[in-house]
Amino acid sequence: MSIPVLRPGQIYKEVALKDGRIAVLRAPDFRDLDSLLGFISELVDERVEIIRTTKPSRGEEAEWLGGRLAAIEKGNLVAIVAEVDGRLVANCEVERRTPQFPEGSHVGVLGIAILRGARGVGLGTALMESLIQLAKQMNLRIVILDTFATNTVAQNLYRKVGFVEVGKIPKGIHRNGTYIDMLRFAIEV
Ligand SMILES: CC(C)(COP(=O)(O)OP(=O)(O)OC[C@H]1O[C@@H](n2cnc3c(N)ncnc32)[C@H](O)[C@@H]1OP(=O)(O)O)[C@@H](O)C(=O)NCCC(=O)NCCS
Repeated sequence: MSIPVLRPGQIYKEVALKDGRIAVLRAPDFRDLDSLLGFISELVDERVEIIRTTKPSRGEEAEWLGGRLAAIEKGNLVAIVAEVDGRLVANCEVERRTPQFPEGSHVGVLGIAILRGARGVGLGTALMESLIQLAKQMNLRIVILDTFATNTVAQNLYRKVGFVEVGKIPKGIHRNGTYIDMLRFAIEV
């Protein structure tokens, strides 16, 4: 078991966005349950290109959040939420890939999502750069992520912060009767 680099609720930094608003970046804690439930529900309604397509119940979200907080405490997860004007507008994380498999425990898997009203003003860049720093502190050496080939905005962000495309699973996603390629990106941290 390692020591968490950012404990639940701990503030990481404040970031000035391009539109003048301030984002507070911190680790989530259990008090974020309803905000996170609203957050994922909004993304599902918008049909953004993330894996989740259905809204969780409050119980499912509580179980999920409890698992994330436990993984943080074990040093296997770094998670950041961003608040702007007191509202949770972003959630992202890097999770150690296989804590029970030492030969793979230097690899982390990244996920990120931001609500519509907070996109395009530099928050994604700030969150990705923060996650890369924190992944290093977790003693990860490689961070990977998967994305829809159609999600060019996300790919622009990943390339901007140093990720490179390392693979493609043709037709890796089947959504609404259509096959979409899945791309894998990676970075050495
Ligand atoms: C993908 C996402 C995280 C990007 O975050 P963001 O805060 O909008 O990104 P930033 O404002 O920091 O912009 C970073 C780069 O992304 C690219 N980008 C941002 N908005 C763009 C747009 N509308 N069109 C094209 N490229 C865009 C640019 O290259 C930009 O760099 P620049 O500002 O130097 O030009 C955000 O759009 C999002 O959460 N989308 C919905 C969920 C999602 O798709 N998650 C990823 C799943 S794999």
